[in-house]
Amino acid sequence: MIKNIHPSQTTMFETHEFLSYEEIMNASAKEFAMKRNIINLRQELKYEIPSTTYLTHAIHNVYPAKFIPQVPRFIIKKFNLKGKIILDPFAGSGTTAVESLITGNSNISSDINPITRFLTEVKTLKLNPQDYFSCVDRLNYHIDSIPTCHLKFVPKWGNLDYWYPEDILSALTKIWGYIHNIDENEGNIKYILKASALYISRKYSYGENESPKLFKSKQKTIKMKELNNKFHEQGLGLLQNELLLKAKQYLKCIIQFSSAMKTEYKKVNLIDNTGEQFLMVLNNSIEELGQILSEETIDCIITSPPYIYAQEYFRSTKIDMYWLNMANDESIRKLTKSEIGQKFKPFCDLSAELLKITPYKNAANTIKKLSENFKTKENIHRFEAYFNDILYFVQLSAKLLVKKGILTIFIGEPKVFGSPVNVKDIISEMLSQSNLKIRQTFFDIIKSRHLSRNRLNENPNGISGEWLIIGEKL
Ligand SMILES: C[S@@+](CC[C@H](N)C(=O)[O-])C[C@H]1O[C@@H](n2cnc3c(N)ncnc32)[C@H](O)[C@@H]1O
Repeated sequence: MIKNIHPSQTTMFETHEFLSYEEIMNASAKEFAMKRNIINLRQELKYEIPSTTYLTHAIHNVYPAKFIPQVPRFIIKKFNLKGKIILDPFAGSGTTAVESLITGNSNISSDINPITRFLTEVKTLKLNPQDYFSCVDRLNYHIDSIPTCHLKFVPKWGNLDYWYPEDILSALTKIWGYIHNIDENEGNIKYILKASALYISRKYSYGENESPKLFKSKQKTIKMKELNNKFHEQGLGLLQNELLLKAKQYLKCIIQFSSAMKTEYKKVNLIDNTGEQFLMVLNNSIEELGQILSEETIDCIITSPPYIYAQEYFRSTKIDMYWLNMANDESIRKLTKSEIGQKFKPFCDLSAELLKITPYKNAANTIKKLSENFKTKENIHRFEAYFNDILYFVQLSAKLLVKKGILTIFIGEPKVFGSPVNVKDIISEMLSQSNLKIRQTFFDIIKSRHLSRNRLNENPNGISGEWLIIGEKL
């Protein structure tokens, strides 16, 4: 049975015809092997990608629902992309950016989450191996100087005391006060220190730092007692040591990334048509993106939009945004209202077109009936708004792509009101109705997922796999 496949493997099932999620889960692996091509992504790409955290993918590895680097690499390799412009309009932590650049492509990464800019920038810093020792010297100098600094940085976070013990909070405000005031001339060092400080700010909080979701767990509360005792014995020095260790680790990752780059690339604010390799990072919603990018300019889109009833990305990443001084309570509320999957109203009303999509119409009828049994009936509007926004994104993608350009969507099918929704069929038909033909569809079994068992969750067991839908612009 599929469930018996070795858990260390992520297996992609190529499906030439569409199978329902149940059919996939009930079929035996042998059946699949006989009838269809089975692709094991990790195995297939093991020479190119030794681990999911290779190069700079290890930095801030807690971004919610990020993809493994094998996903963008698989597409880049499959279509032999080189010297092309690859867009990720839901760029999150910048996985597609790193993979695009090291394979000789240009990249445009955009996301409504302001942290995308920071993460993409830090993961694509340029540092030579010969810079290593001078960088370590600067890191040592700065970390040693923290105790002498009297500037404090207190995040504009109403709930701060809830997440930190008092003394640790005071030490963190000192560390961040120092880091925020490092001269911009030392940009690279400042970036590395910020990324490392994010790590310790999560680790020394009551928040569950092993999971992308921000919540107080029982285990973490116990762990915090231990860390708090340790902090009272060693003081600020404990955090300085951890900061240095993390910063050196990140520095090595960045140097490895730079060494893997075969060409020089530039960072730009506008698409560069000279043919030179570039990286462009935007902090825009998908709706704004339509006004920024011109039609027929993109060769390939590799992306993973939020899943239906998605996790709240801002709730997960706000701890980082507050410390980076990118957010306050008000801006977080505003962002959450613009997040696809959380909204009750779409960008623009495409409901007439949506109703032409038969799998959507069927699913909407089922979900509407089911919603009557739930206290949260109004969630049906979230359902409608979600598919409306996804249709907008598919139509926009079709406009942005050059002829024969490739659109790849990596998407999961969580349950809604306890019932599975055929997201893959709905999105596939959206593509077909938007001047895109389906090239192939794969199913990827998820290896593991950090989910809290104690929290209210309409889908407590998580989803067992995700779809990779590949379309081509006609
Ligand atoms: C599944 S995550 C993408 C993760 C990414 N593939 C990675 O590897 O880190 C989906 C992203 O969509 C973003 N998002 C949600 N609503 C958006 C909107 N209206 N416009 C643009 N981005 C949005 C979220 O901030 C989140 O980063």
